[in-house]
Amino acid sequence: MADTLTVTDNRTGKSYEIPIANDTISAMDLRQIKVNDTDFGMMSYDPAYKNTASCISRITYIDGGKGILRYRGYPIEQLAETSSFLEVAFLLLRGELPSQSEMAGFQYEVKHHTLVHENIRELMEGFRYDAHPMGILMSTIAALSTFYPEAKNVDDAENRWLQIVRLIGKLPTLAAYAYRHRRGLPYVYPDNELSYSGNFLNMMFKMTERSYEPNPAVEKALDVLLILHADHEQNCSATAMRGVGSSRVDPYSALAAACAALYGPLHGGANEAVVRMLQEIGSKDAIPGFIKQVKEDRSVRLMGFGHRVYKNYDPRAKVIKKMAYEVFDAVGKNPLIDIAVELERIALEDEYFVNKKLYPNVDFYSGLIYQAMGLPMDMYPVLFALGRCAGWLAQWQEMLTDDEQRIARPRQVYLGSGSRDYVPLSDR
Ligand code: ACO
Repeated sequence: MADTLTVTDNRTGKSYEIPIANDTISAMDLRQIKVNDTDFGMMSYDPAYKNTASCISRITYIDGGKGILRYRGYPIEQLAETSSFLEVAFLLLRGELPSQSEMAGFQYEVKHHTLVHENIRELMEGFRYDAHPMGILMSTIAALSTFYPEAKNVDDAENRWLQIVRLIGKLPTLAAYAYRHRRGLPYVYPDNELSYSGNFLNMMFKMTERSYEPNPAVEKALDVLLILHADHEQNCSATAMRGVGSSRVDPYSALAAACAALYGPLHGGANEAVVRMLQEIGSKDAIPGFIKQVKEDRSVRLMGFGHRVYKNYDPRAKVIKKMAYEVFDAVGKNPLIDIAVELERIALEDEYFVNKKLYPNVDFYSGLIYQAMGLPMDMYPVLFALGRCAGWLAQWQEMLTDDEQRIARPRQVYLGSGSRDYVPLSDR
């Protein structure tokens, strides 16, 4: 059986044999299909990239139909159960799990890049007291590019690695500063004695105690949440990271763009929207009415349900749902969980959701854990960004080292006006 696709252009009667590799055809192979010599050639039309592979990747595998997610081949459930976020970050970035000495070295490197220049603190002071922490985070990430001008040398592997370590080290500091700014609290410097997640909790919540001791259940849960969010192949923000990075801009600028993509309510903002939705529903009795509204009014969505890729239960949502109860045991139950569980049960039995294959996604339960931890809602996408930073950087690095990649520049189908003469303003 030949690995080719035969295409017959019925406009001309000509046939073309197009090679198939990895179950795909190259869009450029369509260009030879022309009506005549002056014809530009055939393109594929794919708004929102619903069926277009934009890269070859070896980082994350998803089987949306079966609900499978693996980083570098390792099932997400195993990593969530036994690994740590920094180990997963190393795995995503380097392709293999670290040896013990590599792990110790990576931890040392990251911990020694957690401080930010004092000017960044001053920059933060300029934001209004109620500035959204995601806005502060993306602005200060972009600002970091001005502190490390050598980061422009994106083709130098050693220099690239330094910026990667800096970003993984500094993001929790920026995120925690953004939170403290919002609360009007003094900033807390990193504590290198603590784990990556423990230190983040320290920078967020330390008050007057001499040294901060994170609650082990909360520290573990946060680390697992970072692992679960660490990568998700070519999602909207990873695509932004790759697209912006393809111009060879420094990684701080590209990562700020990825953060901006994540900020949107259809992406990283959904966990916040879920909590707001559950609060609005208010009680289990109101669930059937809400479901009816979702089905009748296309502008109302069951937030935290549905996914472009998963047409089955999102494996991350399963881990988070289980972990939610462990966190509640440690810090007290979030009463909204009962509404969420009932809402899930009713939706999964409803024809509308069954037929459209809409299942809970990662955001359905994560917000409830964040809320129980005492985090304000506008910090949820910030936490998502902390985890996803590892994936963005892995995707960025893979893009830069892929010989097939060029500056991202899609084509368009132009259906606007034909050529027409300018009419002076006085004649209009
Ligand atoms: N509630 C109700 N109906 C839905 C929902 C939902 N949450 N999601 C999809 N649908 C319906 C759509 O109305 C559409 O119906 P139609 O075929 O009759 O037109 C159909 O299911 C397909 O939906 P699309 O929007 O075309 O699917 P797409 O792949 O473009 O969108 C998305 C995926 C954005 C995640 C969507 O399911 C959604 O808006 N969900 C709610 C927001 C959310 O939870 N986002 C988090 C995503 S995960 C993440 O970013 C980490």
